[in-house]
Amino acid sequence: MAFTEPVLTKRIPLDPSQRKLVWYDDYVATGGYQALKKALDMTPDDIINVVKESGLRGRGGAGFSAGQKWSFVPKEKTGPHYLCVNSDEAEPGTFKDRYLIDHDPHQLLEGAAIAALATQCDVIYIFIRGEYHRQAKVLEKAIEEAYAHHVFGQQGVFGSTRKIECYVHRGAGAYICGEETGLLEAIEGKRGWPRNKPPFPAIAGAFARPTVINNVETLCCVPHIIERGADWFKTMGTNTSPGPKLFGMSGHVNKPGVYEDELGITLDYAINKLAGGMKGGKYKACICGGISMGVLGPDQLDIKLDFDDVRFRGGCLGLGTAGMIVMNEHTDMVRALRNCVRFYSHESCGQCTPCREGSAWMTKILDRIIAGYGKARDLELLLELEKTQGIMPGTTICGLADGTAWSTRTFINKFYEEFAARCPEEPAPTGKTISLPVNQRGSLNVVTPMGFNTR
Ligand SMILES: Cc1cc2nc3c(=O)[nH]c(=O)nc-3n(C[C@H](O)[C@H](O)[C@H](O)COP(=O)(O)O)c2cc1C
Ligand code: SF4
Repeated sequence: MAFTEPVLTKRIPLDPSQRKLVWYDDYVATGGYQALKKALDMTPDDIINVVKESGLRGRGGAGFSAGQKWSFVPKEKTGPHYLCVNSDEAEPGTFKDRYLIDHDPHQLLEGAAIAALATQCDVIYIFIRGEYHRQAKVLEKAIEEAYAHHVFGQQGVFGSTRKIECYVHRGAGAYICGEETGLLEAIEGKRGWPRNKPPFPAIAGAFARPTVINNVETLCCVPHIIERGADWFKTMGTNTSPGPKLFGMSGHVNKPGVYEDELGITLDYAINKLAGGMKGGKYKACICGGISMGVLGPDQLDIKLDFDDVRFRGGCLGLGTAGMIVMNEHTDMVRALRNCVRFYSHESCGQCTPCREGSAWMTKILDRIIAGYGKARDLELLLELEKTQGIMPGTTICGLADGTAWSTRTFINKFYEEFAARCPEEPAPTGKTISLPVNQRGSLNVVTPMGFNTR
């Protein structure tokens, strides 16, 4: 492991007062688009092989090999191929892709153009979440510049025979459109309902044509790999998780923000060296990857932030996007879990019963516990419910439900005492009606003599 200089953020000074948006001329003056020119002299297979050899794993959550994904696209072209850039970034605690677009949009465009060469894509769609108004405008202007300088357009990439078009597609603010097949539906102008797989997008994606979907940060790594080689990329990170990584630090830290380092730094290092240490109390927990990945507990500061250690030793689903929400000793874990589960209930697209009903039911149980009416059976019920939903137990179409499951499982298991103290064997007597905070549908939750109900 050796991280000696910023890679993805090399044009973004650490001091915010020194930052400026890097437009085309500045990008080119600092070495930009050299990698794309180099890639034009390579065959698609050569590009795929370098990216495969670098070990680059997707930065959008699943950590799948980027080169391998590209190799699934058919080599024989019988019609258009598409590349979709996933810039939905709607999970609580995630904001690193926004940072890259905000300051260095051409890095993304160059990476996307190289990926398009590798997979013979004709059109790039950058799917960006509805709330990212400024970032959509930045991208539109950067794309305009790229057309003017013949990166995109029908005259061919820098005058070559390869032609790529590029468009921004704005979402309407639904988290589920970040799931890759929900994103494809949205790009086709439909409701963002995830699709059953197979067929996989590499075979039948956007408009039923071969399609690659990659995260913003994944694609931003690509020009650096082409320019400096696979071996250089592997000098950073760990054997199974090479390369640089952006860590989005938020919550109870002194200096929240986006920090670049290498994969495999410890959680302790991320909190104390990158984010300026704890704020308002001692460390208690950290959601390490966006809330779908689960939570690391108080004795897990030594966990390495890479795709494997967080999973195998840390007991979470994975590193996810490394959108890290740090919590101090005063954090109420029951309320924190309730916030996560409520989010999933609100964002469930509703196609699968375990996800739609399970997350709503779990939110109600957690509301009841917070109101002081928890009972021991509630914890059993929550743990039973979380086991029955997700693509991993095979009960749902997409992984949103796994997010509900993993946050519930890790919060309760790692902070069992705290939950159990609110769920005694002898629960508070019901029989009086109490009002709870307004829930997401605007109605009031009420405890009735029969137990808990929704009016
Ligand atoms: C509910 C849900 C939401 C997701 N949201 C995003 C997102 O906002 N951005 C993203 O890059 N990947 C997101 N993903 C992962 C994508 O489905 C997909 O794996 C990813 O975009 C692939 O890019 P990568 O291989 O470069 O990581 C989400 C997955 C799920 C299940
Ligand atoms: S798991 Fe949930 S979000 Fe995903 S398709 Fe099923 S209902 Fe929709």
